[in-house]
Parts: sequence; C-alpha cells; structure tokens
Amino acid sequence: MGAAIGMEGVYVADTALSLVDGQKGALIYRGHGAKDLALSHSFEEVAHLLLLGQLPEGNKAEIWRSALASKRALTAEEHRLLDALPPNMDMMESLRTGVSALSWDGAMWPPTPEAVATVLARIPTLVAYRWHRLQGTPFIQPRADLSHTANYLYLLTGKEPNPAHVRALDAYLVLTAEHGLNASTFAARVVTSTQSDGLSALTAAIGALKGPLHGGAPAEVEEMLEQIGSSSRAADWLQQRLQNGERLMGFGHRVYRTRDPRAEALREVAQQLASEEPWFELALEVEAEALRLLQQWKPERKLYTNVEFYAAVVLRAVGLPRELYTPTFTVARMAGWCAHILEQAANNRIIRPQSRYVGPLPEKSS
Ligand SMILES: CC(C)(COP(=O)(O)OP(=O)(O)OC[C@H]1O[C@@H](n2cnc3c(N)ncnc32)[C@H](O)[C@@H]1OP(=O)(O)O)[C@@H](O)C(=O)NCCC(=O)NCCS
Repeated sequence: MGAAIGMEGVYVADTALSLVDGQKGALIYRGHGAKDLALSHSFEEVAHLLLLGQLPEGNKAEIWRSALASKRALTAEEHRLLDALPPNMDMMESLRTGVSALSWDGAMWPPTPEAVATVLARIPTLVAYRWHRLQGTPFIQPRADLSHTANYLYLLTGKEPNPAHVRALDAYLVLTAEHGLNASTFAARVVTSTQSDGLSALTAAIGALKGPLHGGAPAEVEEMLEQIGSSSRAADWLQQRLQNGERLMGFGHRVYRTRDPRAEALREVAQQLASEEPWFELALEVEAEALRLLQQWKPERKLYTNVEFYAAVVLRAVGLPRELYTPTFTVARMAGWCAHILEQAANNRIIRPQSRYVGPLPEKSS
C-alpha cells in the first residue's frame, strides 16, 4: 500500500469544532456559518464558542470579554526575555520563542480553558511588544476597556482605533480563527497527544504557520500585487510566473475544490474599505486574470482564490505593515489551536502514524 504523502483525504481526528466543506465551499464553526459569525459576533464571542462550546448569551459576553481583557499584560520577566532576543530575529521567530516562554496558568496537564484563554488574551501584547522593540518605538500598555481587536490595533499604533478598521479586522480574525486539521492545528494536536503542555503545542503550531505555504502567504500576495503595480501588467506578470513553474500566491487549497468561503467574505470586507484602499480594484483585476490563467494552465486542477489573497488587501487597508500579516494570522488562529488542544486532551490517544520504509535492507540478515 502506498504512503498517503501529504496525508490528503486521511481522517485522523473527530472534531466538533469546524466543518470545512471543500466541495460546497462552506465553513461552519460548531453549527454556525463562519461568515454569519463574522458579520454579527465579535472575535471574543467566537473564541468563547470554540473554547467553551456555545456563544455567550446576555451579560456573559461582557463578563468573558473583560475576563480576557484582564489577562492581557505581560510580566516583567516576559518583557526581559523579549528584550533579550537578537534584533535579527523576525516577528514569527520571536513569537515562536516568546510563546514558549510565557507563563502558564495552572497545571501543565490536562490543559484547561482558563490556561489556554490566558495565552489567547496575551498574544496581541506579545506581537505589539516585539514589534515596537524592532521598530525602536515605545511600547504601549494594553487597555482593558477595548475589545480584543480594538486593543490589538491600539497596541500597534498608539491611536484610538478607527471603528471601520476594527470591524474589518475583527471579521478577518473571526474568519481565520479556525479551519479544521490544517498543518499548524495538526502540529498542535500531535504535541498535545503526547500529554505535553499547551505552550509546547502552541509553539509547534506557530512553527508550522510561519511557512509560506501556510500562514506566510498574505505577505507574498502583497509582494505580488506590488510587483504587478497596475492591471495592464497583470497578465504578463502572472503568465511569466506560471511559465517559470512558480505558484500564484493566494490561489489553490488542499481542501477547497471550489471557492474558499473565507475569500468571498473577505472580498466583501475589503470592498467596504475600498475608498481608502486603492489596491482593491487592482486585486479584483489580478484575481480575475489569475483565475483565467490557472484554468488555462492547470485545467484538470480546481484552483480558486484562497483566504490569503483578500486577507492581504484587508490587512493592508487597516494599516498593518506586511511584517505583521502572519503574526496577525497567529492572533486569530490562536483561538482554533487552543480549542483543538482542549478537544485532543479531552479524548486523547497518542498520534503515531507510520512511515513506509523505502531504503535498502542489509544484504545478509543478522
Ligand atoms: C495551498 C497549497 C499549498 C495546496 O497545495 P496541495 O493541495 O498540496 O496542491 P499540490 O501542491 O498538490 O498542487 C496540485 C497542482 O496544482 C498546482 N497548483 C496548486 N496551487 C497552485 C498555485 N497557487 N499556483 C499555480 N499552481 C498551483 C500545482 O502546481 C500542482 O500542479 P501539477 O500537479 O500539475 O504539478 C497550494 O495550492 C499552494 O501552494 N498555493 C499557493 C500558496 C498559498 O496561497 N497558500 C495559502 C493557503 S490557504
């Protein structure tokens, strides 16, 4: 029997967290459409749904928001550790190291919702602290009166966040919070399955997310749009890339064989910011040309726009620099990772697949 290289189509876990329907192009979190959640619920409420099983009702939403808000500050030791990181350590490398050194709230095993929620609440502070350090700008303390998303923008800019930007970024965070057994979530579940601690699982997940085939794509989409520059150059630029055997960033997906529902939703979010983001028109034209060429070059493959394409446009429109795209994806996906860690721990069996040996055998058996 052949090995399942890339594990495509292999089911290794039961989950109640999300359904990624690659044929219908649907994404459901615990019975709720992700797009509906993005339109009508905050990131904190969706994190509650993922971690605790239901959307918070009545005043529970505010109790949960302020409980998370009260956990945002980093300790003096954590500041010192981040200060000691070498200046050439980029944002994702810093997050990987920083998360592994965060204090953990409670026993190491089994992980509890309180313990993972503490990491979820603090990840924006970690991103912002390191970002200001690398920029040589002063760090700003988190504010407990703001939402998770508004506080994140405030921490990065030091300014009262623009409500339209908060809404757009919140929709992005909700739409990218959870996505089945993607590579980083799988990494988190594998580590959890050994009864290792939650911080080790999250560190492994961040290591997987930083790769360009997973969470590193939006920065490359922005690079692509920047190089194309104007719609008249799109066809030649994209054609050249395909001729060189290279991939078009922001297109294709392991599971979706139709439109990625997150890309559709983020296109709408980006459109709402179009008046302040001239790239929106360029992105629409590049997308149309890329889809035409992919159909021509790879007619047997079903390659559509993925979430990262419009993520780049939204993140740029809310004023985030490219270096913060994958860290911001980390802020979002932290909710999904934490929920998977709890789910794996609650019904644990060590994940231990097999490899098929294709090397030589000893000439004489001993
Ligand atoms: C997401 C991704 C890694 C999924 O990969 P996968 O399921 O392993 O798909 P494969 O690598 O097996 O590719 C299948 C075929 O489609 C082609 N293909 C896939 N994505 C492509 C893209 N973005 N541009 C051009 N061709 C692409 C591959 O070249 C391959 O063609 P071939 O069989 O003729 O050689 C892949 O589509 C990709 O690299 N996309 C660009 C990066 C990106 O946007 N990542 C964010 C994901 S949300």
